[in-house]
Amino acid sequence: MFNRLMLGLALWLPTLAYAYTDVEIDRKVENLLAQMSLTEKIGQMTQVTLNVVSVGTLPYDMKEPHELDEARLKNALVNYGVGSIFNVGDHAFSREHWREIIEKIQQVATTQTRLKIPVLYGIDAVHGTNYTYDSTLFPQQIGLAATWNPELVAKAAAITAYETRAIGVPWNFSPSLDVGRNRLHSRFYETFGEDTFLVKTLGKAMLQAYQGNDVADKNHIAATLKHFIAYVMPLNGIDRSSAWIPEHYLREYFLPPFIDAIGAGAKSVMLNLSEINGIPVHANPQLVTDLLQHELNFKGLIVSDWESIREVFYHHHVAENDKQAVKLAILAGVDMSMVPYSFEFADQLQQLVKAGEISEQRINTSVRKILRLKFELGLFEHPYYPVSDYPDFGSEKFRKVSQEAASESITLLKNEKNLLPLPKSAKILVTGFTADWIQALNGGWTYSWQGSKPLWVTHKPTILDAMVQKFRDQVSYVETAYETTPLEIQAAVKAAEDADYIVLCLGEKPYAENFGNVLDFGLPESQISLARELAATGKPVILVLAEGRPRILSPFAEQMQAIVMAYLPSNEGGLAIADILAGTVNPSGKLPFTYPFGQNSLTMYDHKHSETYAVQVQYPFGFGLSYTEFAYSNLKIDRKQLTAGDTLNISVDVTNTGKRAGKEVVQLYIGDVFASLAPPVKRLRGFEKIELKPQQTKTVHFKIAVEDIAFINAQNKKVAEKGDFEVMLGDLKGRFVLTEDVHF
Ligand code: GLC
Repeated sequence: MFNRLMLGLALWLPTLAYAYTDVEIDRKVENLLAQMSLTEKIGQMTQVTLNVVSVGTLPYDMKEPHELDEARLKNALVNYGVGSIFNVGDHAFSREHWREIIEKIQQVATTQTRLKIPVLYGIDAVHGTNYTYDSTLFPQQIGLAATWNPELVAKAAAITAYETRAIGVPWNFSPSLDVGRNRLHSRFYETFGEDTFLVKTLGKAMLQAYQGNDVADKNHIAATLKHFIAYVMPLNGIDRSSAWIPEHYLREYFLPPFIDAIGAGAKSVMLNLSEINGIPVHANPQLVTDLLQHELNFKGLIVSDWESIREVFYHHHVAENDKQAVKLAILAGVDMSMVPYSFEFADQLQQLVKAGEISEQRINTSVRKILRLKFELGLFEHPYYPVSDYPDFGSEKFRKVSQEAASESITLLKNEKNLLPLPKSAKILVTGFTADWIQALNGGWTYSWQGSKPLWVTHKPTILDAMVQKFRDQVSYVETAYETTPLEIQAAVKAAEDADYIVLCLGEKPYAENFGNVLDFGLPESQISLARELAATGKPVILVLAEGRPRILSPFAEQMQAIVMAYLPSNEGGLAIADILAGTVNPSGKLPFTYPFGQNSLTMYDHKHSETYAVQVQYPFGFGLSYTEFAYSNLKIDRKQLTAGDTLNISVDVTNTGKRAGKEVVQLYIGDVFASLAPPVKRLRGFEKIELKPQQTKTVHFKIAVEDIAFINAQNKKVAEKGDFEVMLGDLKGRFVLTEDVHF
């Protein structure tokens, strides 16, 4: 008995030992740093992908089923002192295999290396713990954004943190705080949409849920803010290409999410792999050191993006060789290189230090941050926690949260003559290439990087499966390909004869990064032909879209009686779509972006007055229908004049005037009528999601400080200029005056 007590105490005590104070951590870091050789220090700054330490043909073809390669692992950890490993080489693993990998890696690191420094393992758990069988996946960020529900986003992130720790990984390359100012970019679905306020609100909620109050505890992880800065804004919409962004716009639209998240204690930042105004971010000390570390006071770990240091040489042509790229990146402020396929970075940095081009003091700065994060994560005590600590992994309880998130994200864009919800007796033809394909609901970063591998498809219900569960033998199905063939169109039209309704499921194939680059924002002609031919049958067509970005619908939207935007709702998305079509769930999603009308009507909601001409949108930012109606009344602004230090209290009554309960996102917009920089017609300055029973009224309150209506002026300074401001809530408007200029 006594021994069991002591064992229990021994297991329990280290748990207490984690919460080191900053001073204790600093002391431990200095103590360890003082013992380290230059090779060991540079090794800590070197991050390699799992391929490099696995059986297979380097660099790309990791053997399947996966196995670690003992000799390669020892070479990386013992000879090079590699401090970080990440990702999965485009595989997905069982939870058990993850544990096997992590425990082996940590065993070698903490027993066979001279200083026994644990490895910091990273993963892109960007919509749940991906690359893992039976974990809980969630809608991609663009879908979570459509919920406009920070609490729900936090619930999803907390589950992701729990399950990521459960597989033994303490570091997540998430959230993306990219503001999606180019909606056709291939990574738009990884963002929280086009608006800065929505991105910063949801980004902070996700970050705080990942990290909790102590990243050392077994249910929390270190988050990574990415991609600093202004990544999803390339001039031509193509991934990894050039952005031209004046500093005042960079500060206005792209910086606030990072300011808030860093203020909330983010542990790491990943840099934007592109170049802004001609300078690759990875080689830009003004952004990485002056702005991020000095002005924003970010003290955490700065990690490069994938091979992005080498890209300063071979992609941006700003360095003439790899070694010069390493020098530029380290001098810019990068702490860890995501190399990822070799040890060249380590060799080149060693040469640069030996040649006196990089000081060892500069190396020490980065190594301190890396060691600090490892201590903060408790990795020296617990490189991983016992499997038994995670009984809820992949549980029904977690699955329900994913379905709730999918249900709250789905956005009803059109519902002519209240066609939806479908009657229980409805005879329904389901067709379209996303109808019976779970990968289309997940997108990239799922069971493989591109999300399209036919393997590992889970038992999760597709849209078709879910519709059959609801409507049983009243459902017929015609399979059609992404490039629908004439024969398929003919078969679908024929099948429509026996149906009352047609559910046409279109959208996009899964993709990630530059594999998702598009030169045409429309859908393939064959999909449009299918839509038109089905509309011509005279049977009402309900268009369901599973897509990561708003592909142009104008060629055929008029002919659709209903349009449902599902974004990338993930594994529970089929059930959520069927619930909404059947009326079990009342849709409450709102667009987190402006749905463009045509190939060149790409203006966003916060456009300038001069852009008003071009503002022809398919559906506006913040728009989404419900199966009930809401009325706005009694807008109150508690003062007509505002001076520095004042707070404006704004309230509005919202009534559910329909026959069923529903959720509404009350959105506060404020427009600066005149300003020294051409002002946007309005900016989102607050929102609140409420639930109302039929005939129920709620008064929603907003508090606005003068700083909340400020902007970054031509001198890159934050200012609120005196003058008129317009308040917009629902269909109501009001005004107030700021009586003086206020500088921040
Ligand atoms: C990719 C992405 C980045 C991701 C990293 C590791 O290139 O840009 O978002 O975290 O590589 O997978």
